[in-house]
Amino acid sequence: MNALQPVAIVDGERMPLTDARLALTDEGVTRGDGAFETVGVWDGRPFRLADHLDRLQASLRAINLPAVDTDVIAKEAADVVEGVGAVDAALRMYVTASGTRIVTLAPQPARSPARRLVPQPAPWVRPRTEYPPAGAKTMSYGPNMTATRAAERAGGDEALLISTEGLILEGPTFCVMWVRDGRVHTPEPALGIVDSISRRTLLTLAAEAGYQTVEGAWPLAALAAATEAMICSSVRPVIALTAVGDVTFPTEAPVATDLAARLDRRRRA
Ligand SMILES: Cc1ncc(COP(=O)(O)O)c(C=O)c1O
Repeated sequence: MNALQPVAIVDGERMPLTDARLALTDEGVTRGDGAFETVGVWDGRPFRLADHLDRLQASLRAINLPAVDTDVIAKEAADVVEGVGAVDAALRMYVTASGTRIVTLAPQPARSPARRLVPQPAPWVRPRTEYPPAGAKTMSYGPNMTATRAAERAGGDEALLISTEGLILEGPTFCVMWVRDGRVHTPEPALGIVDSISRRTLLTLAAEAGYQTVEGAWPLAALAAATEAMICSSVRPVIALTAVGDVTFPTEAPVATDLAARLDRRRRA
C-alpha cells in the first residue's frame, strides 16, 4: 500500500525528507525549544488538521513564542499530501524558537502495539492552574522518552505517567481511557496533560455509541476496578491494554474493540 515518498517543506522549500536539514544553531536543536504536532493521515487525508493547527498555535502561546501563520502551514500540509493516494501516513509540523517552520510527511511509526504499561512518575506534569504551559506540545520531550525507557527496562511496553499527587495522567505520546461500571473514564486536560485530539474524538464517538463518559482525576488504584483499559493517539489505533503495573485486563475488550472500529471509520470517512 505504501508507495509514499517521504517529503519535507522547510521554511517553504520542498525536498525529500532525507535531504532536509536543520542548522545546528537552530534553537529547536540547541534547546529543544519550539512546538510541534503529529497529525494522522488516513487514506491520504489529514484527520482534524484544523484542530491540530489550533493546538500548535496554543502551544506556541503557552511557551511565550510568537504566533505562526497557520494558513501557511495548512497550505504546506495540503502540498505534502497532494497526490499521495490513499495511504496512511504521519504529517508532522514544527515551529522552532528560531522561527523555522517544518512540515513533513512520512510513514506512520512501525511499532508493535503497547499493551503492557508500567506506571512512571511524571513530576514535570503540573495542573494547568499551577503551570499554564502544562500540556503544550513542546519540542522538549526528553522527560517523556525517559519514562518510556524506564518502563521498557521494567519489562513493559510503555509508561503510564502518574502525577506527584498519584493521579493517572497519560502516556508519553498517547492518551489513556478505561471502562468501569460500563462507563468510559479518561483524565481531564486540567491535570496538565496534552488535550489529545484522539481523546476528544473518542469521547464524541463513545457518547454517540451510547456509552456514558466521565472526565476527571483518579488515582492509579482506580484501574483495579476497570474491566478494560485502552490507549490512543493520532498515529495509533485504539489499543486495548493487557496490563497496567500489577493490574491485568481480560483479552476480550468489547468497548475498546467497538471504539477502535468507530474511530477507524471516522478517520477514513
Ligand atoms: C503527551 C501526549 N499525550 C497524548 C497524546 C495524544 O494526542 P493526540 O491524540 O492529539 O495525538 C500525545 C500525542 O503525541 C502526547 O504527546
